[in-house]
Amino acid sequence: MHRIKCNIFLLPDLWGSKSKLLDFIWENVKGFNFDSVLDAFSGSGCVGYMFKTKGKKVSSNDLLQYSFNAAKASIENNSSVLDKDDLVTLLGTPIKTDGFIRETFRDLYFTDEEYLFLEQVWHRAQKLNDEHKKALALSALCRACVKKRPRGIFTYTGNRYNDGRKDLRTTLKQHFIDAVEIFNNAVFDNNRQNASTCGDIFDLKRRNFDLVYIDPPYYSTRSDNDYLRRYHFIEGLCSYWRDVEIQYSTKTKKIKKYATQFDSKNTVYDAFHRLFSMFRESILVVSYSSNSLPTKEEMIEILKQYKHNVEIKEFDYKYSFGNHNHKIGNNKNDVKEYLFIAY
Ligand SMILES: C[S@@+](CC[C@H](N)C(=O)[O-])C[C@H]1O[C@@H](n2cnc3c(N)ncnc32)[C@H](O)[C@@H]1O
Repeated sequence: MHRIKCNIFLLPDLWGSKSKLLDFIWENVKGFNFDSVLDAFSGSGCVGYMFKTKGKKVSSNDLLQYSFNAAKASIENNSSVLDKDDLVTLLGTPIKTDGFIRETFRDLYFTDEEYLFLEQVWHRAQKLNDEHKKALALSALCRACVKKRPRGIFTYTGNRYNDGRKDLRTTLKQHFIDAVEIFNNAVFDNNRQNASTCGDIFDLKRRNFDLVYIDPPYYSTRSDNDYLRRYHFIEGLCSYWRDVEIQYSTKTKKIKKYATQFDSKNTVYDAFHRLFSMFRESILVVSYSSNSLPTKEEMIEILKQYKHNVEIKEFDYKYSFGNHNHKIGNNKNDVKEYLFIAY
């Protein structure tokens, strides 16, 4: 129904993003009778956004603030954009800032001049008197940081992966301006009241969604699923590190992990039970991959305890980890993506 393509990257190549599977997901669920959708682990926001383009009433949730801001800017937000005056506010007269980012992260990820830019834009964004505009500005700032960072992640310090590609030669300010345009272009009204929340899914009070899309971190014994470790810098930036605890003893100055039941073998099974029980009245659509726990058979067993019918769809593709596109074609990364549909 909409002119807008939903395969835009609101946050570029975000690790774990389902942006390449949107058609696959839609083709498999479109036959069901549903109007309201919860994207319970929204990440980049692309799945919830896809449902928005289909005219659904979308709610999204994520534990992390950068994900929440991206969803608020593009899913909940039906009309606000950052206009020329807002850009003057965001990029205008230099203001005095506290130097917190420069002092805390000096020499780790960006130059002092770039940190000063982040300090200034963050503080100016607080002056925007529209929460959706604030979410747009913060999301654009996060996107700019990820684009400017070699490999797009903050698990290492210094610049050793700088291969001189265009994104790394582009200034942070230009990335921000480009990102504002991308986010602005993503804004549209689907004439529904959409909503985005930030928090542990188990704290969500509302239950009455026709369909719940579930794409939690994949627990695997072979690789970690720690989103915060990869993106701690942009997560901290969203609140100017006010809502988080920096671990000063770490080289990367990363944030203390948020508790989630999806990151340990001891808790992940119980987490799925709790989740399916919470939303047992809804159509459950679960994305999961073949190298994760619970296994495919275990997942079917768990789902059957809550729903009569469980269908499973498979999508083969070579996984792309973050910006590590050089890994595509490496057989070790061949995984099957499952979509469990329970109703
Ligand atoms: C696999 S990613 C989701 C990717 C998303 N579907 C996309 O296409 O971009 C998993 C997400 O779950 C979030 N998460 C982890 N534990 C959570 C919890 N307990 N409650 C809510 N979100 C959680 C992470 O922050 C991460 O963004």
